[in-house]
Amino acid sequence: MSKSFLDKENSVIANSLKIRFYPIALKSAQNTRITDQNDKEYLDLTAGWAVAGIGYGHPRISKKIKEQYETLSFTSQLSAPEPVMVSLAEKLLQITPGNFAKKVWFGHSGSDANDCIAKLVPLAKKRSRMISFMGSYHGQTMGSLSLSGHPAQSSFIGSGNVVKIPYPNPYRPPFGETDNLTGQIIQFLEQEVFSTICPPEHTAGIIIEGIQSDGGLVVPPSNFLQQLQDICKRYEIALIFDEVKVGMGRTGKWFSFDHENIVPDAIVMGKSLGAGLPISAVVGRKEILDSGTGIHMFTASGNPVCSTAALENLHIIEEERLMENATEMGNYFMNLLRKLQKKYEWIGDIRGKGLAIGVELVEDRVTKKPAPEKTAAICYRCYELGLIVFYVGIHSNVIEITPPLTINKKDVDLAVAILDQAFSDLQEQKINLDLVNQFTGW
Ligand SMILES: Cc1ncc(COP(=O)(O)O)c(C=O)c1O
Repeated sequence: MSKSFLDKENSVIANSLKIRFYPIALKSAQNTRITDQNDKEYLDLTAGWAVAGIGYGHPRISKKIKEQYETLSFTSQLSAPEPVMVSLAEKLLQITPGNFAKKVWFGHSGSDANDCIAKLVPLAKKRSRMISFMGSYHGQTMGSLSLSGHPAQSSFIGSGNVVKIPYPNPYRPPFGETDNLTGQIIQFLEQEVFSTICPPEHTAGIIIEGIQSDGGLVVPPSNFLQQLQDICKRYEIALIFDEVKVGMGRTGKWFSFDHENIVPDAIVMGKSLGAGLPISAVVGRKEILDSGTGIHMFTASGNPVCSTAALENLHIIEEERLMENATEMGNYFMNLLRKLQKKYEWIGDIRGKGLAIGVELVEDRVTKKPAPEKTAAICYRCYELGLIVFYVGIHSNVIEITPPLTINKKDVDLAVAILDQAFSDLQEQKINLDLVNQFTGW
């Protein structure tokens, strides 16, 4: 497939920038569909790692981008601000909770936004330490990788001020089977971590993904986030939510923490914020984001073309009722997947919220031994059958379903039919594993 293009790409593009599951090479994309260089069409369940939240090529976005580029193509807002970035900031302040003075910071990627947290939270709180979670993915710059607990960043030591604690994974409880997972983790934090290596009076912030996405689409128990917030309040520790992947309506509400009535001290956004254009943001307490002048700034931050795309994107999510669609289609999808689970023993667990869904594959449901080779084979076979899915997870065994929020019932039916076919082909050993093994994935 597009062999000569992929060979050329391989000879000039750095491997450090790649994570490949199959030999796809793109030509174009529209709404939920991707077309490759051989004009084959695919239904996309990845939204390009959750970037194309409103789908690809939305006409309202392209119109705004063109108009903005012709009016004011660029300004460095660091020294010469313009109104679109300010309007976007006002909108973000409006859709985020917090009855206190808040401000907005802008960058280009989830990584630089999490770097903002890594730098500014300790500075603002005058406390040196941070806490994050094992399995978390906050980015690949030095600050954000220091906060991360994902194997993808394990080649780097990162900053020594971050302590990582287990994430409450109901399918794989870190301290063994229990009926009180929340209590176990909270107790571990308070009685072990705080009283040994990370005293609360030295702890500036705790950063968490409301759903741990690259870690395996792990949804914590429903009372966990509230109890974490209680602890943060008790010890005056800032609570930061990384909503880069599951925010902007994907779970059926603007943010994953909205399901639990949490009020974070800072919220990190990226990916789908810009409708495909690179822009990230942190919305947070004024005292955090104002903790210094000119100490975390990028020349093109909040540039007007990306800002106008992001602002229009937020209007589209509201006006096209995409959060409602995410809830409805997410439930529909999960119900169909549960039926599939009855057919295939390898489907160990199905979980998610809205259109952030994980399908965890195991060798058998008793031992729950992760099945990464089978997961890679299913993703590869789906690609051959016209469905784009990637896998995630610290064991590389979770199929991640994060389609554009515009997906409809017919698309979901098609997706589940292709997944069914792929599982059946795996069962009948019809998948060419030599082809699958040419791609390393995570
Ligand atoms: C939760 C989360 N935070 C941060 C990032 C990093 O974002 P970026 O790749 O845009 O730097 C990611 C990327 O997958 C993510 O999933």
